[in-house]
Formats: sequence, C-alpha cells, structure tokens
Amino acid sequence: MSSPNAESVPATAPAAPEWFRPSAEVLQHAWVKDYDKVYKRSLEDPEGFWSDIAKELEWYKPWDKVHEWNYPFAKWFVGAKANIVHNALDRHLKTWRRNKLALIWEGESGESRTFSYYELSREVNRFASVLRSMGVKKGDRVTIYLPRIPELPIAMLACAKIGAPHSVVYGGFSVEALRDRILDAESKVLITADGGYMNGKVIKLKEIADEAVQKAPCVEIEIVVRRTGQPVPMEAGRDLWYHDLMSLPIASPRCETEQTDAEDPLFMLYTSGTTGKPKGILHTHGGYMVGTYITLKWIFDLKDTDTWWCAADPGWITGHSYIVYGPLLNGATSFIYEGAPTFPYPNRWWSMIERYGISVLYTAPTAIRGLMRFGEAWPGKHDLSSLRLLGSVGEPINPEAWRWYHRVIGRGRCPIMDTWWQTETGMIMITPLPCVALKPGSATRPFPGVEADVVDEKGNPVPANTDGFLVLKRPWPAMMRTIYKDPERYTQLYWNKVPGVYTTGDSARRDADGYIWVIGRMDDVIKVSGYRLGTAEVESALITHPAVAESAVIGKPHEVKGHAIKAFVVLRPGHAASDALVEELRAHVAHHLGPIAKPEEIAFLPALPKTRSGKIMRRLLKARELGQAEGDTSTLEE
Ligand code: PRX
Repeated sequence: MSSPNAESVPATAPAAPEWFRPSAEVLQHAWVKDYDKVYKRSLEDPEGFWSDIAKELEWYKPWDKVHEWNYPFAKWFVGAKANIVHNALDRHLKTWRRNKLALIWEGESGESRTFSYYELSREVNRFASVLRSMGVKKGDRVTIYLPRIPELPIAMLACAKIGAPHSVVYGGFSVEALRDRILDAESKVLITADGGYMNGKVIKLKEIADEAVQKAPCVEIEIVVRRTGQPVPMEAGRDLWYHDLMSLPIASPRCETEQTDAEDPLFMLYTSGTTGKPKGILHTHGGYMVGTYITLKWIFDLKDTDTWWCAADPGWITGHSYIVYGPLLNGATSFIYEGAPTFPYPNRWWSMIERYGISVLYTAPTAIRGLMRFGEAWPGKHDLSSLRLLGSVGEPINPEAWRWYHRVIGRGRCPIMDTWWQTETGMIMITPLPCVALKPGSATRPFPGVEADVVDEKGNPVPANTDGFLVLKRPWPAMMRTIYKDPERYTQLYWNKVPGVYTTGDSARRDADGYIWVIGRMDDVIKVSGYRLGTAEVESALITHPAVAESAVIGKPHEVKGHAIKAFVVLRPGHAASDALVEELRAHVAHHLGPIAKPEEIAFLPALPKTRSGKIMRRLLKARELGQAEGDTSTLEE
C-alpha cells in the first residue's frame, strides 16, 4: 500500500519494543485502573457506558435515547437539552470552584492575567449580552480571528452561550484562508484584534481581516480587541472596539444561557482536505461535551490539584477541545501562553512550567523536536518536578523525541500519552490511559467506547505488522455531524471509501500486542509542524501569482517540522526562474494563506508529470524528489 506522506518520522514498531509500565504512584492516582475491563464493558454496552458518563454532567432535559444511527448520520443524547457553557461555567458557580482559577494566561512579553470561574463567567456573560444586543441569535455563525489572548476563549464561550455557532480561524492564517472561511459560514460578525505578538513581532491581524472582509461583504460588524495598541483604521459603521462595547450598559453580566438542544451546532472548524475548498467540520453541544469531558479526565487523570497546559492554539481543534471546553467542563485550571516557545530564550516553556507549577503538559512532536535542538541545558536549569504526566498530539512522535521528552522533561517519571485524533473526531480516539503500558511511538489502544481497526480496501482486518487503512467502526458522541452545508461531501469523504466504516485518511499498523502505530496521511494532506494543510490550497495560492502557470505541491520529510512543503512550478511565458522569484512566490503564499503554508523549497520545471486524463502525478514528483522507485507510471502522459 502506498502512502504519499508517510515516510518521515516513521512510527515503525521496533523488533523488541521497550515497555514503559506505569508506576505505583501513577496507578494509584488514575481514574481508570483497569483499561481492559472498562474497554470491554464500553463495547458490550455502549449506551450504558456513554449514558453513565453523560450523567456526570448537567442537562436541562434528559435524553429520550442515547444514540440514533442513520448511517452515516449520527445523533447523540436525542431529545436532550444541554448547553456546553452551562457545564463549562454556570454549574461551577454553584460550588466552591466559583473562586478557583479557570484560566491563567501569560503574554509573550511576560505580563499575566488570571480569571476565576466567577470572573471568566462574568466576562463571558457580558460579551454574550453585547452580541445578543447586536442581534446575534441562536444559529447565527460568528467568525473569530484572534491571537492567543483570553478574549479568544471568552468570545468562543460567549457565542456558545447564546447558541451562535463559532468559526474560529487560526491567527496564523492569512487573507484568502480567512475570506474563504467567512464566506462559507456567511458570518455577519467578525471578532478580531488590532494585532498579536509572536516572536517579538506584531502580527497585523486587523489589516488581514480588513482585506478579507473587502472580499467577504456578508460581514456587517467587526469587533476589534485592543492587544498591541498600534493605530489601526476603524471603518465607521462597521468597526467597533471590544473595550468600548464592554463598557456600555448593554454589556450586562446577567445573561441567560440559551437552552440549546443536544444536537444544536456548537461550532464549525474549517480544515484542509484533498480539494482546495476548506471543509467546515460541524460539532454539536451534547455529544462533543461528553466526549471532551471524559477523554481529558481519564487520559490526563485530571484532578482539582492540577494546573493543565495544552500548548496548542485555541484556533485548532486541540485548543477547542483541550484548552477551552475540556478543561472548563472538568472544572480545571488551564494555562494559556500567548507566544513562541523560544522567546526570548529557549527556556521559556520550562520557566513557565516551574513558575506556574504546571502538572500536565500536552504538546506536539514538532515542538518537542524543535526544543530538543537547543540541548538539555535549558530544561536542566529548571525545577520541573511539578510535572506528573505528558501528552503528545498532531503527528506520529518518533521514538527518539519520545525518549527525550520522557527523560529530559518528564525526568523519567512522567508517562507520555500519545493521543491520536482529528478535527473530525472532536475528541481523542486512540491513546494510552495512565494505567496502560507504553511503547515509544505507539498511540497504543482505542479509548473506551471507540472501535478502531486497521483494514484493507475491502474492510478486512490486515495481519499484525502490516500497513492498512486506519478506520473507526462505530459512531462516538463527539464525532462530526456533517460538513457544514455539504452532507454529500461528508458521506463521500468519510463513509464511502471502505464499506460501512469511517475512514480516517491515515495509514497504520497493529503489532502483535494489538498496539496501534499510526504512520501518517494517505491523501493529499500534509502535516507541517503538526498543522494540517492541503496540497490543493497551496497550489491554488501559487497560481494566483501572475508568473505561475501551474504548480504541484508535495510534503517532504523534515527533521523538526515532520514535513515541509516543496512546490514545483511551471512559469508562464515571459517569466524566468530566479532566486528573487522564489522569494516572491514564498511571500505570495504567506500573504494569501499564512506563514505556515510558505513552501520551504520551490523548484521550476518545464512541465508537470500528468496522467493521460490530465491529473498531476504528485506521487511521481515525490518519488523522484526522495530518490524512491517511481512505481507504476503506465498512465503517465508522453
Ligand atoms: O494524520 C493524523 C495526525 O493528524 C491528523 C489530524 O489532523 P487535525 O485534524 O489537524 O488534528 C490534529 C490534532 C487532533 C490525523 O489524521 N495525527 C494526530 N494525532 C496523531 C497523528 N498522527 C500520529 N499520531 C498522533 N498522535
């Protein structure tokens, strides 16, 4: 089976894998002590299993039915009424957690802000009242384009509170990406900021937002948070300052939480697929709430004494589920850091772990590999003894990075939860629990209630240690419900490849112990530093440049990023290849899509290899680039 993007940081099962077994201390602390027992029950009695968990949360009205399956469309907690914000905030105000810290935030330049559950809830209520008084109502989609500041979770929660689905666009995306997402969501309100800080530099978010809005006339109101204080143009009648609105009587701290249906949309989050058009992955209040709540609780063994840090951006699914919703649903204290891991020095993260007493760190292999390069002396300077557990997400973690993370950061004491999941799954799906023995590089076993398998094209399980398609065989509460406005594409993309099951787009193998080793994407999706990009998106950005006639993009293994983008470009007549043009094209992609999509390398070709039916053969370009066998070239055009 060929897998175009799969060969970097290979997650190969070593011949004699080393085991890391949980210590007595870890086991004693764990919510779940016997994985096999809980897993078995979850598959034998899924309704009982999921409803027991759901009962740990509050519902305005209980469900008539746990689950309804109208292949491939699922409903969970059918007939129930629940709002995720009621469980993330409102319900804690009735308990001692009212005065517990919900959020601790540190800005890149060192300032910090904290919010107790009471204070956070008050801010959310005030902003929700503002949105309501502006006419935003249940079902209206609000686009949020903010840097990593507390107003980002506040805005998300305010939207959810009034039943308005949010669509968060990552602050590292640029004009075209933002415009496409606003247009698809048909948002009338955009929430942005004057700018954001990253690596000591100001990112001009308002400038990008304005340019996007010019091409997305559905936006009637831009709410602008002041972060950097730099002067920005404010268009009369459209642009309003957040702090002005929050100082008006309309910003009432009394705000009823909308009694949403369990199946009402909570958010859409756009993600890259195999075509240039981003997909709006739709999640709902009830099932997503149950899934994010229990995965965070069991996998990271969260307790009230923890200070939890998920170092992702709230603008990605990891941040939605495990910076914002999961921690608040659990009544946890969640830490958010605004800036770059190495600013101003490579010990920034380790210093914050020490200063805030972080007990669980959840990050991506690319960040670990990046920080590894600076050596052990930087983390060595700091007391990291508050840590008790570590997590990894976003791409396969190579055993070398795993061991470094375990030895140097976890000081050999902290188990690593290598969690596999996707924007579409909403919650972590394949992962160890603290009571499970680990093998570096393997995401180990499915979470209770999740049935995963490695199969061939026909859906038959492949033998141990053989590559196959990673599939999910039964619905789960936090699963996406559809692609926004495109149920057809939802069915086609996820439920039509292998009969009867959800296709993840990843390849994997299972070893003789039943442990799953995820290898990587099998489609035209590239994971660059853990961020998901479609080749087609980058290609579409390139061909909007006047010098470019055609382009093809591949992912190339990269030591730190996992994969880096290489673009092949055919120039229009009258344009010549040059180093200056390479730089211009890279800047062009960054302007259109964002710096994360900037090609690492650009090569000029007289023509692209195509099939006789005119399809670009990226697979061939990739094989040539990596010096691999070209495989079947019988369809190649002469
Ligand atoms: O290829 C898998 C990879 O990330 C993809 C999903 O990307 P996204 O929707 O951006 O969500 C990322 C964070 C949940 C998957 O199809 N992936 C994610 N986690 C892992 C992983 N690959 C290997 N091991 C993981 N732990």
